[in-house]
Amino acid sequence: MDRVVAFIELRLIAAAALFALSATALDNGLARTPQMGWNNWNALACNVSEDLLLQTAKLIVNYGLKDLGYQYVVLDDCWSAGRNASNNNSLLADLKKFPRGMAAVADDMHALGLKYGMYSDAGSKSCARYRAMSEALNATGRPILYSICNWGEDQPWDWAASMANSWRISGDIWDSFDGDNGTCPCDGPSAWNCTNTGINCSVTNIMNKASFITAKGQPGGWNDLDMLEVGNGNMTDSEYVAHFSIWSVIKSALLMGNDIRKIAPADLAILSNPAVIAVNQDPLGSSASRRWMRDNIQMCCPPRQRQQRFSVMNATLADILADYTPNAPELKLAWEVRDLWANRMSNDMASAIIAGNNSTEGRYNSTETSYADGLAQGNPLLVGNVTTTVQPSGTITATVGRHGAAMFRLRALTTTTC
Ligand SMILES: *[C@@H]1O[C@H](CO)[C@@H](O)[C@H](O)[C@H]1NC(C)=O
Ligand SMILES: *[C@@H]1O[C@H](CO)[C@@H](O)[C@H](O)[C@H]1NC(C)=O
Ligand SMILES: *[C@@H]1O[C@H](CO)[C@@H](O)[C@H](O)[C@H]1NC(C)=O
Ligand SMILES: *[C@@H]1O[C@H](CO)[C@@H](O)[C@H](O)[C@H]1NC(C)=O
Ligand SMILES: *[C@@H]1O[C@H](CO)[C@@H](O)[C@H](O)[C@H]1NC(C)=O
Ligand SMILES: *[C@@H]1O[C@H](CO)[C@@H](O)[C@H](O)[C@H]1NC(C)=O
Ligand SMILES: *[C@@H]1O[C@H](CO)[C@@H](O)[C@H](O)[C@H]1NC(C)=O
Ligand SMILES: *[C@@H]1O[C@H](CO)[C@@H](O)[C@H](O)[C@H]1NC(C)=O
Ligand SMILES: *[C@@H]1O[C@H](CO)[C@@H](O)[C@H](O)[C@H]1NC(C)=O
Ligand SMILES: *[C@@H]1O[C@H](CO)[C@@H](O)[C@H](O)[C@H]1NC(C)=O
Ligand SMILES: *[C@@H]1O[C@H](CO)[C@@H](O)[C@H](O)[C@H]1NC(C)=O
Ligand SMILES: *[C@@H]1O[C@H](CO)[C@@H](O)[C@H](O)[C@H]1NC(C)=O
Repeated sequence: MDRVVAFIELRLIAAAALFALSATALDNGLARTPQMGWNNWNALACNVSEDLLLQTAKLIVNYGLKDLGYQYVVLDDCWSAGRNASNNNSLLADLKKFPRGMAAVADDMHALGLKYGMYSDAGSKSCARYRAMSEALNATGRPILYSICNWGEDQPWDWAASMANSWRISGDIWDSFDGDNGTCPCDGPSAWNCTNTGINCSVTNIMNKASFITAKGQPGGWNDLDMLEVGNGNMTDSEYVAHFSIWSVIKSALLMGNDIRKIAPADLAILSNPAVIAVNQDPLGSSASRRWMRDNIQMCCPPRQRQQRFSVMNATLADILADYTPNAPELKLAWEVRDLWANRMSNDMASAIIAGNNSTEGRYNSTETSYADGLAQGNPLLVGNVTTTVQPSGTITATVGRHGAAMFRLRALTTTTC
């Protein structure tokens, strides 16, 4: 019996948040856990080509990212050059960017053991258009993951699960932890039932929108918080750790959104943390829900590091097990606390991987052993090291740096009775 808890430090908006785990989905057999992969848009927008996709795909394999679960290589907009009027207005590939056409690119991805995704748009306001596409994909007879985006308008979490494997919940993300350029409204409590989803939405803005609908994600259909910004350069390392932690624990699709050809060691280390990915890929499929959002989190200033301020956050077992009744036996158990960021890959190891070291030592291979099996077996790369034990009805304390996150897996210690 495991629980996962993530503390997020949000000091510039004067609060901290605690997330803890707790419609019938489309039945195409896919996305039983959130899809993982890469999409070019955040880093490269329209600068796409066959070479970009092929180079990226090879690096995803060589850097061990494919074996961590990043399987979908997704080409976003700007690949086409109009339509063919003599062929049912079908889309034409831009042969300057994709000289061999799109099918050849898909074949290359499949030959590398990866899956291939493409962007298209219905160009209509009607939600019914999504069902037409869903039915067309089904009619191909080949299971194809269907990820829709209407930027969260019309509350897709209430209707999309029957036709798609994921749905975007907000306007496009930008590479900012909490920056607000006035273009992405609906933060805080107004994030609930927002009808103007905006553009250039920050990590915390999207987190707030997600916090009201976490329960809508389920095996086969997931809230999509948008592609990751980890590695795109405008956030601090702590902010990227928090961003990746939030997306993982809320069970968003995890699509890397950086230029893998230029990845920095620290960013590879964040994206490669199997203990955090395992939370996202846990077959139980329940999303974390927000337990509290607090002002006045206690801060402390270590005298030798005046620049670095930390927040001390406490969560009681009752906070974390809030879906249990007050007298639940779980509250009477002691729990092991395992820090899921403690074993983050060193920058030296990440640099060696980028330089071509193919060693599999210390790497998790989810192609060989699924996250479900690895978790069931208590694989130490997934469940982390025990850092402390929390007593029955006790409190977990996390010390988290500015805009950072701490993430723990709690395992109940079973008591023996004679
Ligand atoms: C597009 O990407 C190529 C490399 O793939 C790069 O050389 C070029 O400068 C980029 N162009 C723009 C406009 O960013
Ligand atoms: C358009 O479709 C027609 C009929 O299928 C085909 O002969 C033609 O080659 C297509 N044009 C392009 C540019 O692919
Ligand atoms: C098509 O839909 C049916 C009914 O939901 C499902 O059983 C089948 O697996 C789907 N096939 C594909 C290829 O998605
Ligand atoms: C970078 O982040 C800061 C702080 O969140 C924000 O104010 C700024 O607009 C961001 N810039 C870009 C280009 O994303
Ligand atoms: C904020 O928005 C304004 C108006 O759209 C734009 O000119 C400016 O570049 C934006 N700031 C950033 C950091 O993107
Ligand atoms: C959001 O919509 C739901 C369902 O219609 C409703 O129960 C809830 O009260 C609304 N929340 C707010 C803050 O308007
Ligand atoms: C959105 O952010 C990008 C930089 O990330 C900036 O170039 C653009 O102007 C912003 N758009 C608006 C409407 O603020
Ligand atoms: C957190 O808990 C610790 C130990 O139980 C206690 O010393 C500290 O005062 C608490 N801090 C807050 C902000 O509640
Ligand atoms: C890593 O594997 C690739 C592909 O098998 C190979 O070309 C390369 O030489 C290997 N690198 C090292 C350092 O062994
Ligand atoms: C490759 O990485 C492994 C594990 O980190 C290390 O033991 C080995 O020395 C490295 N080899 C090279 C050639 O860097
Ligand atoms: C991961 O496991 C698969 C399946 O056993 C295997 O084909 C692949 O080579 C492994 N990856 C690495 C990097 O060893
Ligand atoms: C923590 O776990 C890692 C990965 O399983 C292991 O290599 C390391 O030795 C452990 N550290 C401690 C202090 O137990």
